[in-house]
Amino acid sequence: MTDGFDDTTRRLMETIEANWDERTPIHAASRFYDVGRKDPASWFADYEWTDLGDLAGRDVLHLQCHLGTETAAFARRGARTVGLDLSGAAVAEAGRLAAQAGLKIEYVRANVYDAVEALGGRRFDVVYTGKGALCYLPDLDRWADVLARLLRPGGRVYVVEFHPVLAALGLVPRSPDERDLVLRNDCLAGRGPVRIDASRTYTDGPALREATVCYEWAHGLGEVVTALVGAGIGVTRLRESELPWPRWPHMRQTGRGWWRLPDDAPGCRSATPCSAPAEPARPATGPPPNRHRECHRTAQGTPLSRHRERRRTTGATPSDVGEPPAGAVGTRRGGPPRRPDRLRAPRRARPVRGGPAGPSHCGRRPTPRTRRGSR
Ligand SMILES: C[S@@+](CC[C@H](N)C(=O)[O-])C[C@H]1O[C@@H](n2cnc3c(N)ncnc32)[C@H](O)[C@@H]1O
Repeated sequence: MTDGFDDTTRRLMETIEANWDERTPIHAASRFYDVGRKDPASWFADYEWTDLGDLAGRDVLHLQCHLGTETAAFARRGARTVGLDLSGAAVAEAGRLAAQAGLKIEYVRANVYDAVEALGGRRFDVVYTGKGALCYLPDLDRWADVLARLLRPGGRVYVVEFHPVLAALGLVPRSPDERDLVLRNDCLAGRGPVRIDASRTYTDGPALREATVCYEWAHGLGEVVTALVGAGIGVTRLRESELPWPRWPHMRQTGRGWWRLPDDAPGCRSATPCSAPAEPARPATGPPPNRHRECHRTAQGTPLSRHRERRRTTGATPSDVGEPPAGAVGTRRGGPPRRPDRLRAPRRARPVRGGPAGPSHCGRRPTPRTRRGSR
């Protein structure tokens, strides 16, 4: 499937691969990942396990598995587990860690877009992906087509990902004591790749020396859901949750140990219900969808690089990347993918345009942007 991309997009993915190869040993040695000591289950929100149900004896595929931190949790729950990642360094490290822990996990080095061929046409009961993964994918329609081809009839895709709005928000000082949470980056798709040149990754540890450039694509929730539905994967639940980790330093912990903005935060009044963006179908079994959602509204303000600002406000600590997931559960009910014809039109890759970071308003950013700072 990578064959279907133009040369420019393939080169961007090679750049991403080199960047993650260089990040891997830094991450493997970091306190942030704390591999070998940290319980892999701690990377999951409770509702993920509720949604996923009993995994014992199921075939689970974890796409973009990186060091296998989450992959290991599936194996510990008795799943026959496969992890797949673009970075050869990451899958080698993940394999070493699994062996050290006595876990039987198969790791495969491949681009997600080539996963069907790389896995020899095998199909899975559960395909799990997310937590910082989709932003590296240039085309979600193609991604969803791959997911559909990896699923057994009746199998499920579980996507748990950072909310697009979080990537668009940043803290800006208003006074020595006050900070505003403002909208600075795009939260919608369609503006092509963002080039990020960052010598610091999101964990503690040394700087990257060579492969400092990476690319990211913004993907809105609508784009994710539409891609899944277009590939014949029915969406059975879409959550937008409070955060399992403190994304911003001024967040407060709730009674159940989750994190939210304080009641007096600008634009945030607690317990303001938002309408559910998508709940087209109820799962045949399992609990009813959670209808209570928190509403965090935002104000626009001075655009800054979110990465620069992140370092400045949080010191790139582990909580810096404690961005929350918004989980979408898809269930494929069998049958061939059903993408409407209009979605099957030949895909056009967007050229990477140069130029400095422009003003960032949701849905109004001018041209591609090069960002510098930690990521
Ligand atoms: C943030 S990590 C994965 C998230 C995981 N939850 C974690 O925190 O360890 C992103 C991973 O995506 C992988 N990746 C990026 N683009 C990919 C692609 N096209 N195909 C497969 N893996 C890809 C990178 O190599 C990296 O290991």
